[in-house]
Amino acid sequence: MGKLFRFGVSLEKTLLDKFDKLIRSRNYTNRSEALRDLIRQELIKKEWREGKEIAGAITLIYDHHKRELVNKLTDIQHDFHDLIISTQHIHLDHDNCLEIIAVKGKSSEAQKLSDILKAIKGVKHTALSMSTTGKEV
Ligand code: NI
Repeated sequence: MGKLFRFGVSLEKTLLDKFDKLIRSRNYTNRSEALRDLIRQELIKKEWREGKEIAGAITLIYDHHKRELVNKLTDIQHDFHDLIISTQHIHLDHDNCLEIIAVKGKSSEAQKLSDILKAIKGVKHTALSMSTTGKEV
């Protein structure tokens, strides 16, 4: 961690009360820690918007009995082999699979892969977790 600096923040009482209530509900021990996380969250959103190198995960839920679906998902993942750093496949029950695809690379590529997977027939749900390589935050 770099050198710490202190600065004052002026807020309306009602907004500060809401902030304190929010951070208590999220188990922060103090305002500084909560504020640091909020700032990082905004910086990470900016990394994604500006097409920087990011890290993240795409989760998929699908029924592996659907014809050709598994082959299609594999083909697409091979097209993005530079972006995908790891995948985990979990057999949730007799029909449903959960796949977690960890990605690292350009944000636009991660978004593109997520959009392609989402649009495939038979995929029940996808979620893109927009995270960071951690280098810039
Ligand atoms: Ni499975």
